Formats: sequence, C-alpha cells, structure tokens
Amino acid sequence: MSVSQSTRSLNLTIIGTGFVGVVSAAVYAHFGNQVYGLDIDKHKIDLLKDSQIPFFEPGLAELLQKTQKTGRLKFTTNYQKAISQADVILIAVGTPSAPSGNADLKYVLAASVSLAPYLKQDAIVVVKSTVPPGTLAKVAEAIKTKTKRHFYLASLPEFLKEGTAVADTLKPDRIVIGATDPFVFQVLEALHQPFGAPIVKISPESAQMAKYAANNFLATRITFANQLADLCEKNGADIDEVIKAIGYDQRIGAHYWYPGFGYGGSCFPKDVKELAAYSRTVGEADNLFNKIDALNETRIAKLLDHYEKLIGGFEHKKVAVLGLSFKPNTNDMRVAPSTKVIPLLIEKGAEVVGYDPKASWLEFGLPQLDNFQQLKTIEAALENVDVIFVLIEWPEIVQFDYGKIRQKNKPQWLIDARNQLDIQQVQKWGFNYLAIGKSVKVPSYERAKSK
Ligand code: UGA
Repeated sequence: MSVSQSTRSLNLTIIGTGFVGVVSAAVYAHFGNQVYGLDIDKHKIDLLKDSQIPFFEPGLAELLQKTQKTGRLKFTTNYQKAISQADVILIAVGTPSAPSGNADLKYVLAASVSLAPYLKQDAIVVVKSTVPPGTLAKVAEAIKTKTKRHFYLASLPEFLKEGTAVADTLKPDRIVIGATDPFVFQVLEALHQPFGAPIVKISPESAQMAKYAANNFLATRITFANQLADLCEKNGADIDEVIKAIGYDQRIGAHYWYPGFGYGGSCFPKDVKELAAYSRTVGEADNLFNKIDALNETRIAKLLDHYEKLIGGFEHKKVAVLGLSFKPNTNDMRVAPSTKVIPLLIEKGAEVVGYDPKASWLEFGLPQLDNFQQLKTIEAALENVDVIFVLIEWPEIVQFDYGKIRQKNKPQWLIDARNQLDIQQVQKWGFNYLAIGKSVKVPSYERAKSK
C-alpha cells in the first residue's frame, strides 16, 4: 500500500464477529471501505451473511442490511480470502480474564498466527481488543512465526457502549490511535477522517492504558456514587440531590453518576479486575483498582442483607425481579445484577419471578433454578407479589403503572435499584418504597406486618 492509497477507501478485515467486530465492520463499510468480517464460528458467519445478529443491539441489523446491499461488507470464515487483499487487519476477538485476573491473550495470539501466512507486504495489523501494554510485541512475535513479510502494528482501543453501539461508533467522542510509525498514523488517520471526531495519536502503550483508564475511571465514579449513597441513607441526605448539587461544578459534571447495585456488563468488571491484577504484577497490590473491584463485588450481597432487615425477611415472600439484562437496550446478561440478586434471594427463602423485555435467563445459558421462573409479561411477574425489584431502567419497567397491581390487603415493597421512580407517586400507590441513597423511613408497623 502506498501513502497515496492511504487516503482512499481501504480493504479492511475485522477478525472476530462479536459485539465490537460486527459494529465496527458495518460502520467502516458504511464509510465506504471494502470490509470483510472474519470468524472461525461458521454458525455466526452464516447468520451474519443473512444480516442476522446473534445479540440484540438497536439499529445494527438495519445498518448491516444497508451496507451488505452495497457489496462493501462481506462475512467469511476463510482466512486466505479475507487477509490476502487486506490493507488493514483489525483484531477484535475476546480477551477474557485468566484465573489470575490478567487478560488472557490466547485468542489475540491465535488470530495473529492464523492471519500471518496470508499477510500482504506492509499490511497494518491493528489490535482493537482490550489488551495490556506489551501486547503488540507478543503479536509481532506470533505473526513472525508464520511470515517473513514486512508488516506494521498499531493499537486502536474501542470506546463504544452496548445499547448505543451504532451511534457511538458512527459518532465517537474521539479516536485513539496507538502507533510508532508515521505511515501507520497517516493511514489510520485517513481511515477515520469521515468519523469527524478528534484523533489522538499516541504510543501503543498509552493507547492501551487509555482504554483501561477510561473504563476504570468510569467504574470508580460509579463506585464513588454508590459509596456516597450508602452514607446518605444514614444521615437524611438524598444522593440524587447531592449529585445535582455537585454536578454544576464543571470539573465534576452531572452525568454518568447514577448510583445503583454496582457496575456490571462485560467490560467494567473485567477491566477493573485486569488493571487490579496488572497492578499486583508490578508490585502495586494495595492500590485503588483492587479496592474498587472488591467494593463492587460485595455490593449486592451487602444491599440484600440490608433490605432483608428492613422488610422483615424474604422467606416465603414472592419477589419480582424486573430487568434481567445488565442495562437497558441490550439482552446481554454478562455480570448483570440479576445473576447475583436472584440466587441470593432464593438462598434467603424467596420465591422469585423475573421479567425482561429482551434478555432471557435460559437462552443466555444460565442454569435453571428451583424457585425461579422468568415470565413473559410484566403483569404476570407482578401477580400477587410481595416485593418488587426495579433492577434495570428499561423504559417499560420505569413507566409501568404499579398502582394497577397494588393489593391493599397486604404490605408490598418496591425497591428501586436505579432511583428512577417518583417516590411520591409510589408512596401514593401505597407501596413501601426503598431506593439507593435516600433516607426513606420504613414504618415499623409495616415491618411487623410483613413478618
Ligand atoms: C463500557 C464503557 O462505557 C464503554 O465506553 C466501553 O467501550 C465499554 O464498556 C467496553 O469496554 O467495551 P458498557 O459496558 O456497554 O460500556 O456499558 P455502560 O453504559 O458504560 O455501563 C456499564 C455499567 O455501569 C452498567 O452496569 C451500568 O448500569 C453501570 N452504570 C453506568 C451505573 O451504575 N451508573 C452510571 O451512572 C452509569
């Protein structure tokens, strides 16, 4: 590839058709590049060829269909076909945590070995997966076991969020390019020009650290809000009012502060654990990241013990858990609060029902549990219920008229894990309302009645 070619549309191959891979492939094709999505999973590729996605992400199926129709986006399992013409190859495979907590690079390195024999001269191999500093040297070593051709390396961390992935990728806040060679910066900068975002050109190590830094900062912010919320409950303050007050300080800001049951999903828990593990390997075992991870891990059990006392025990109570995904607008249940809350409620003697607009406990591969069933409608889940957990802020769950199911002949509890409901409305309906970081007084006669 010559430098002049670097300003035109490119032949791209994205290895790994998980979340990041599929969204990136569709978006790069949308911006006029010729793109191959490559995966060893034939079933996934067959689905994608047919514009079907194996997960729920708003707007993605439509973008896939549109770009596939132009002929610019293809999917294949054939390494030779996908790599031999590629100017830029992006590795976007999973990096699960190893038992030590460190990132397990086995899929990144396997992809590097598999692509190597078909690399064209001077191709750029870009690591998009979240990996620690030092990974590019390992990728180079893996590629060199199978080719003598010259190639370039770069790091291009991803910052999209599930649920808004298409919009985030079409219009990112920034593009971070980690490289050392001016040619690589030039090609990747030209590739990302149509995105209209600031482009940050730094070393690969800084780019990799920036990805961990962003996720760890956001996870710390959430943990900070949660810790503060716990204090507010003890002293009559309201966490939402506190956040409103501090949010006007432009150094702090009012966004991305919602307290709750702790952060979940496939990224924050993993990336905090990885930075914590990395800290331990470099002799910083006692640092902030290790503490944040521990606080998030223990949060749900601590909250459930607290609610258990307030409501006079969960034993023999029917509990509805509303929202099983890790956040709204996704069916992803990786490290979803529901996956901790439901088993703990069962352990505490509750009979649990669940509801989610998109996520399915069994289809996600979670085990069938005694005393738990997922129901198809929110109304069915709320039938004759004693305790309601509004766990995830799906609009349907937040906007539901809970007054309709209120049974006046018994105390019923509504636990708002995301502080989304109107406290006065909920109390008017006659529920005992509990939220995060609000000093709601539970009438002692209600506690006694509910025993
Ligand atoms: C996160 C980052 O936001 C993305 O920038 C990053 O690219 C991605 O991880 C990744 O590394 O791949 P995501 O996991 O999709 O994206 O979801 P978020 O919307 O950031 O939420 C993560 C968790 O934090 C959820 O459990 C959410 O409920 C929780 N959260 C979020 C809060 O508890 N409070 C908030 O104010 C915001």
